[in-house]
Amino acid sequence: MMNILHVIANPKPVAEAHSKQLAAAFFTALKAKQPGNQVTELDLYANPPPFYDYETYRHFWYPVFDPAYKASEKEMAAAQYARQHCGLFNQADLLVITTPLWNFGMPAILKAWLDQVLMPNVTFTIGGNGVKGLHHIRKVVALVSSGGTYEAGDSRDGIRNGLRAAFGFVGITDIEVAWSQGQNPLFFKDAAERHKRAIWDAMQLGEAVAGL
Ligand SMILES: Cc1cc2nc3c(=O)[nH]c(=O)nc-3n(C[C@H](O)[C@H](O)[C@H](O)COP(=O)(O)O)c2cc1C
Repeated sequence: MMNILHVIANPKPVAEAHSKQLAAAFFTALKAKQPGNQVTELDLYANPPPFYDYETYRHFWYPVFDPAYKASEKEMAAAQYARQHCGLFNQADLLVITTPLWNFGMPAILKAWLDQVLMPNVTFTIGGNGVKGLHHIRKVVALVSSGGTYEAGDSRDGIRNGLRAAFGFVGITDIEVAWSQGQNPLFFKDAAERHKRAIWDAMQLGEAVAGL
């Protein structure tokens, strides 16, 4: 049995959101192959993270340099979302992220969540010997949709590049992506065909992670 954290960063209903359709395909395939996993759904629009602020910074980073540092009450209050969500992060074996590409990057709400869960001494340690994960996430699956098309390594692709950098920092290097590209029908006459292929990719990924 796996603990799966599914982070959803898309405000649209499933019928309009290609990335959510990939998620539906992914979980259908996974459940068919391996029922009984614990899936925690985190819809960021229903449960929005705060922006990282000065109190949050002090609460989590001051003790890294001064282990005797005691957070103030204001800092404790500012750290609540982070504490709760770092807890969910640390319980997960598999992290699934459902997101559109907006302005060549991840939606701000997803970046804000990342900023709340990549916390020193909670989800990773940092010291003279470098960075070590405290979580036990073995894999990240990103289910993405975009209007345009992006080859691997395209510098305009802020999602794949951004997730690789952020998760690589805390020791998660296994990142798989099913991506419905070319979903702007004004520019891509084969948008529907592309989406079908991405749905297939998402199902394949769902089956593959069943063996994780
Ligand atoms: C605010 C906004 C910004 C967007 N920026 C980009 C972009 O930078 N590159 C791109 O290829 N498509 C962009 N798009 C198109 C979306 O990525 C595309 O509609 C995609 O299918 C959205 O995912 P969804 O269907 O899962 O909501 C943008 C759409 C919106 C609404």
